[in-house]
Amino acid sequence: MTHTTRRTSSHWRSKLGFIVAAAGSAVGLGNIWKFPYIAGESGGGMFVLVYLLCLVLLGVPIMVAEVLIGRTTQQSPVKAFAELSSRNSFWMGVGLLGVITGFVILSYYSVVGGWGIYYFCLSVLHTVGGTEGWPNGADAEAYQKIFEQLLSSGRLNVFFHTVFMLLTTGIVIQGVRRGIERGAEWLMGMFFLILVLLLVYAGSLATFNEGVSFVFGFHAERFTAASLLEALGHSFFTLSVGMGAILTYGSYLQENDDIVGTSLIIALLDSLVALGACLILFPITFLQGLEPTQGPGLVFVNIPFALGRLSFGSVLSAVFFFLLVCAALTSAISLLEVTTAYLIDTFGWQRKHAALTCSLAIFLLGIPSALSGGSDFFGTRMTELLGKNWFELFDYLASNWFLPLGGLGISLFVGWFLEASLSRTEFRRGSNIGKVKGVYQIWVFLLRYLVPFAIVAMMLHALELI
Ligand code: PHE
Repeated sequence: MTHTTRRTSSHWRSKLGFIVAAAGSAVGLGNIWKFPYIAGESGGGMFVLVYLLCLVLLGVPIMVAEVLIGRTTQQSPVKAFAELSSRNSFWMGVGLLGVITGFVILSYYSVVGGWGIYYFCLSVLHTVGGTEGWPNGADAEAYQKIFEQLLSSGRLNVFFHTVFMLLTTGIVIQGVRRGIERGAEWLMGMFFLILVLLLVYAGSLATFNEGVSFVFGFHAERFTAASLLEALGHSFFTLSVGMGAILTYGSYLQENDDIVGTSLIIALLDSLVALGACLILFPITFLQGLEPTQGPGLVFVNIPFALGRLSFGSVLSAVFFFLLVCAALTSAISLLEVTTAYLIDTFGWQRKHAALTCSLAIFLLGIPSALSGGSDFFGTRMTELLGKNWFELFDYLASNWFLPLGGLGISLFVGWFLEASLSRTEFRRGSNIGKVKGVYQIWVFLLRYLVPFAIVAMMLHALELI
């Protein structure tokens, strides 16, 4: 196998660098904003169980496959597939789908990241200004109104979407070591510290047990056919697999870094954070007798309201939204990096130009999402026509269809197409778990049969064909 090796500055400085950056990519809005509300809507424990099964049996094998492709080729998705398939255009198309998915996801992800910044600002204003920011002594409806006002304000959305994209671009421009690795270390460090503090706080609440039984209690009546695809799509979304983000990060690994062990650590951290977020959110929600199944507003209405009624509440809510923004940024960085690395590796662009160009294009693509809560075309009109506004449509397409499709392509490629001798050697190199007897065979079996079968079956099911 001949492959070009990257310059040293394009590798992680330390082994931990990859784990931190990849965990930063995985842990994001998906864990804190999305997971709790879809779990709340789709059957609590029943959803959590299906999601965890998808994560372990489907998501992790794909993650290992992605890291393996990346580390072996030292290239971003399209070139990596080109190299391993002797430029077969179908497989290169799988890589390109990943780049497009990255574009699509970041365009609306950044809007939600912007909401996080806005809520952080409101909380800080309230802390320092007293009467600024949050309404004093108001009821939950007042907070609902603030959220609705934010959703319907194109100006606020575009402004904070801009801020979020600028922050993301500022980090990616600085490269793998100085930007991504260092940024992830700082942001994830603060993230975990705050997460533990908030967990301790939630654990001290009288409603903690109620929150636990909500998350782990089975509410099968709320679990529908659509929930199944949702669980599958979310397990890919939350691990950042199916689109080449993990592949790209894997391409900055050195030859002897452990692929299997690190993938397991990342998946474990990711699911712990998702469950941890539920254990923070639901006890706080129940403490004030709020609705746990209210959809995307769960974090943005319940948290500031519930915390706002406590002394030091606005400090706590500033801390919470800071946590949310840190998590969102480390994921956004990985999304932007996929498209940036594509331009660098495929067309030989300089990092600065590549990052700025991608970021501008994604920013523009995000504007309709930023305007989706309003009453103009991208909001109300599209909802009337399609049942979803632009933002919801993008989220639905990217996480429920593009990521599983990308995952399907990657699993078929590594399971059936890639030479077994190559994949076996790469799987085992540098990994103690990878060398344990039978582990490689189980992985290949999952990639060959279970992953494709499950993805296709769930898609057909969602299309009501089976
Ligand atoms: N995993 C991120 C989250 O949970 C989102 C993401 C998806 C990031 C795909 C990169 C690639 O928020």
